[in-house]
Amino acid sequence: MSSTINYAIIGSGMMGREHIQNISLLDDAEVTALFDPNDEQLSLSMKLAPKAAVYRDVRDLVKDTGVDAFVIASPNHTHVDILKEILPSDCRPILAEKPLCTTIDDCRSIARLAEQYKAPVWVAMEYRYMPAVAQLINRVEAGEVGDPKMIAVQEHRFPFLSKVGDWNRFNVNTGGTLVEKCCHFFDLMRFIAHDNAVRVYASGAADVNFLDERYDGKTPDIIDNAFVIVDFASGKRASLSLCMFCDGSYFQEEITVLGPRGKLECLVPGPDRLWAVDRIEDIGHSTGFTGRHRDSEIVFSPRSPKGPIRDVVSVDTNLQMAGDHQGSTFYQHQKFYDVVRGSGTVEVTVDDGLQAVLIGLAAEQSIREHRAIDIAEI
Ligand SMILES: NC(=O)c1ccc[n+]([C@@H]2O[C@H](COP(=O)([O-])OP(=O)(O)OC[C@H]3O[C@@H](n4cnc5c(N)ncnc54)[C@H](O)[C@@H]3O)[C@@H](O)[C@H]2O)c1
Repeated sequence: MSSTINYAIIGSGMMGREHIQNISLLDDAEVTALFDPNDEQLSLSMKLAPKAAVYRDVRDLVKDTGVDAFVIASPNHTHVDILKEILPSDCRPILAEKPLCTTIDDCRSIARLAEQYKAPVWVAMEYRYMPAVAQLINRVEAGEVGDPKMIAVQEHRFPFLSKVGDWNRFNVNTGGTLVEKCCHFFDLMRFIAHDNAVRVYASGAADVNFLDERYDGKTPDIIDNAFVIVDFASGKRASLSLCMFCDGSYFQEEITVLGPRGKLECLVPGPDRLWAVDRIEDIGHSTGFTGRHRDSEIVFSPRSPKGPIRDVVSVDTNLQMAGDHQGSTFYQHQKFYDVVRGSGTVEVTVDDGLQAVLIGLAAEQSIREHRAIDIAEI
């Protein structure tokens, strides 16, 4: 391996470019190969990675022996075929965007291939690496609230952005909103609870967003609001409140962990570049924001003595400008870089990716069937 780690980006749209921007902030790291079927997206990405070789077919890209690691950031439904192209014959590390796949059968077939793979596979779950969320997790681990019994996640945010070909408007491409978006939160719940889900109940609908959009005569079928309750094997429980027509919310995520000693809350604003405009449609596929950034907060409310203790968590401006995820993409890449170098361990495994999809699919099924879904059914 050369002194510089060479990355290939597969799918260089909005998230692919966030990966390029964050890789360029690492020492001794460079994006040297790009694959995307869309010329416009490729030319936007080439501005960030001007020396990268461009491939029109993923099969040609994997023949590039100068590449040390792959980053997959293509639409959700394409992950399975790309992973099936790489996993059987290659032996270089992979960072694959969430959700791992859109169906449980695809997740399981990828998990089987990954078991035989001779290099690390890391599923990108950026929320674990947001500075405020990472602090929340550390403080829970340190026992601040005691053994957590309840985890409540609230995400109140703007509607899904427009994507290349608007692939994100249909469940068949995304796995459903509770897979596409909320696999992050189900991953956090599992990570904080140190446990797997056994049962999921959800209620949700497509009530406000995209109702007047048509694609080949079809109306988008993704839900835009939901409540989800997750029971864990140990008896711990978690909830998610999702609203995607709430652009005006100051904080986008509010993650609360409750235990016998008290309550820890983590309040995280959404991307400032979207907060700064009144019409998110005006943003398009641009990245970078140089205006005022909002800080995150962590609030600890012990049972005794009473009185919340509030800490502000700021994110480095350069990291804020390199994406929409509070610097988390950079911190995740730092750790993935160590894995590529052979000195780190994979923190988000293929099984973690699969379990998060499983909860999301159970929640989507629960909404369709108006009943609680045992995870064992899926
Ligand atoms: N972890 C996070 O916080 C986070 C945030 C945003 C997106 N994502 C994930 O990143 C992925 C990409 O999302 P996005 O927002 O960048 O979407 P996007 O539409 O902006 O970009 C996707 C890109 O993939 C390209 N593409 C389409 N089919 C392809 C194929 N078969 N092979 C390679 N490239 C292909 C498209 O032309 C486009 O340029 C999705 O899986 C999404 O869920 C993760």
